[in-house]
Amino acid sequence: MILLNGKETAEAVKREIAEEVARMTSRGERPPHLAAVLVGDDGASKTYVANKEKACKAVGFNSTVLTFPDTISEAELLSVIDGLNNNDEVDGFIVQLPLPKHIDENKVINAVSPEKDVDGFHPVNVGRMSLGEDGFLPATPFGILTLLERYKIDTYGKHCVIMGRSNIVGRPMANLLSRKSYPGDCTVTVCHSHTRNIEEYTRSADIIIAAIGVPEFLKGDMVKEGAVVIDVGITRVPADTPKGYRILGDVEFSSVAPKCSYITPVPGGVGPMTIVSLMYNTFKARELKLKKQ
Ligand code: GUN
Repeated sequence: MILLNGKETAEAVKREIAEEVARMTSRGERPPHLAAVLVGDDGASKTYVANKEKACKAVGFNSTVLTFPDTISEAELLSVIDGLNNNDEVDGFIVQLPLPKHIDENKVINAVSPEKDVDGFHPVNVGRMSLGEDGFLPATPFGILTLLERYKIDTYGKHCVIMGRSNIVGRPMANLLSRKSYPGDCTVTVCHSHTRNIEEYTRSADIIIAAIGVPEFLKGDMVKEGAVVIDVGITRVPADTPKGYRILGDVEFSSVAPKCSYITPVPGGVGPMTIVSLMYNTFKARELKLKKQ
């Protein structure tokens, strides 16, 4: 069993991006600038945004976090987005999800300029991805592709079972792994909460992407010998630790890992790859803008 070390791989990609940034600034250009909009007081969201800021610093980007209370109205948030769309000093931005219930997430996603949508959530970028056109790929699926690629994992003709159908992970992952490319060329099955006898699918999978948000759902007896298992889960469960919680993935590592050829740990697997993909997209947004000037 080989551990897919997302932390180490993300560090390597970050070093490559930092070198590109150094080349950019040595030409007299300002570095890429990523902004994040954070609404409310959700602990996990705050951690993600803090990690994004840290990664920006590490690669030499400018970064801004705009924080708002969860009482912000939809109209106010849309006007913040309008400001970022029109701010020439900002190359890309994200609105951290989830948003409070009184705000329509789709409206917010649609308001982001596709050229600054480094999350890859805008319908234009989703459409480009679906058609195989160039655009911004959503960070988590993109990070998983990079991990598969850097470890040279064979995906050609493999049966990939994706557990979860979210717009952020499951759906785009299914699209990307079925593409005629590497990593890709998989036969993809998407399982979800209404799938009957899910273990029948997972047992026939060469590659499993677990993205359902149910801690330790995937057990050893649901996995075939030699499978590649990617764990996207990051659920906080109360625990007797200094922070008062522990992070659990969607995979029961102790029973699944011994059967795998490759597996991601939680934490230190997919999480760091997601963040580095966002850095990559932001660099790309900056470069595209410079080319247009
Ligand atoms: N919430 C959970 N994952 C993500 C992500 O990739 N982007 C944003 N904006 N919010 C998220």
